[in-house]
Parts: sequence; structure tokens; C-alpha cells
Amino acid sequence: MFLANFLQWLHDTQFSITMRESLYAEPIVETLHVLTLTLFLGFAVLLDLRLLGVVMRRRRMSEVLRQLNPWLIAGFVVMIVTGVLLFSGDPISFYSTAFFKVKMIMLVLAGVNVLIFNSTIGRRTAEWDLDANTPRAAKIAGIVSMVLWVAIVAAGRAIAYALPPP
Ligand code: HEM
Repeated sequence: MFLANFLQWLHDTQFSITMRESLYAEPIVETLHVLTLTLFLGFAVLLDLRLLGVVMRRRRMSEVLRQLNPWLIAGFVVMIVTGVLLFSGDPISFYSTAFFKVKMIMLVLAGVNVLIFNSTIGRRTAEWDLDANTPRAAKIAGIVSMVLWVAIVAAGRAIAYALPPP
């Protein structure tokens, strides 16, 4: 009930009306959403492949993390902000699709994967910084991350095909 009221309230805000009715607002925000997604995903896959020991094997894991993290964080923040803006344009319709809900759940799972990595094997990178064969837990984190991000992108793309007719 609270959620339904919130979605209705958001739908009726001036911001939401502008997002829906403006000719340019949605395409510009969606383009930013997709462009930052390519930036984020490119670096995320690079990091995941390093976790698997496939690329940049002679680079210290800690150095790779230090160099990629600012890009990953910046891309992630813009993706979240543009995603929320897109959602605000038609919250009731977007929320009615299963793909939107699945995407949000997988986003949370991707966050949990990062938290688990950071509080376990990621805290001890000094111990395996230059190992050609990365620890099993690092490989698992890399695979889980890639699977989730591919699924998140697929679910994001699928939302458009599941929307109720206008
Ligand atoms: C952070 C990771 C995210 C990724 C990787 C992602 C990915 C995508 C992709 C691939 C699309 C399809 C773009 C297109 O077909 O042109 C999309 C669209 C969309 N995303 Fe995201 N998204 C993310 C976050 C969010 C968040 C946090 C929200 C909202 C709370 C959101 C809401 C939307 C909406 C409403 C659409 C438009 C669907 C449509 O009209 O086609 N996204 N996203």
C-alpha cells in the first residue's frame, strides 16, 4: 500500500510529468544511462578477468583495484542516478514489469558480492597480489560479478518489451 501510494505520488510530481512529456528529457537521460553502463561494464569485466587470472596477470591485484575503482564508482553513481531519473518518468509502468524487479534484486546481489569480496579475500590482496593462479574465492567473485552484470543489462533491456501499452 505504501509502495503503491509512493509510486502514484512520484508519477504525479511535476518532475515525472516533465520526464514523460518532454521530447528530449528521456532520450538524453537514457543515452547517459547506456553510455555510463558501457564505461562501468568495461572496467568491471576487466577487474573480473583479473580476479580470474586471465588478463593483466603481472599487474598487482591491489594496483589494478586502485586504478579501476574510481572509474567503477563514478560509472556506478551516474548509472544509479540516471536509472532513478528514468524510473521517475513512469514509475507505475516500470514497476509493473517483472524485469524491473528482477533487475533491482540482481543489483542488490551484485552489491552483496562486492561486500563479501571486500570483507574476505579482497582484504588480503597483499597475500596473493602477484599470484598467477588467483585464489578460488577471487575467481568465484569474478564469475558471480560477470554473470550478474550480464543479467542486469539483459533485464534492463527487456523492460521496454514488457511495459503495458500506453
Ligand atoms: C546500476 C546498474 C544498472 C544497469 C547496468 C542498468 C542497465 C540498463 C539497460 C541496459 C537498460 C536498457 C537501455 C535501453 O534499452 O536503451 C536500462 C534501462 C532502464 N533502467 Fe537501468 N540499469 C542500472 C540501474 C538502474 C536503476 C538503479 C534504475 C532505477 C531505479 C534503472 C532504471 C531503468 C529504467 C527505468 C530503464 C528504461 C527502460 C526502458 O524504457 O526501456 N536502472 N538499464
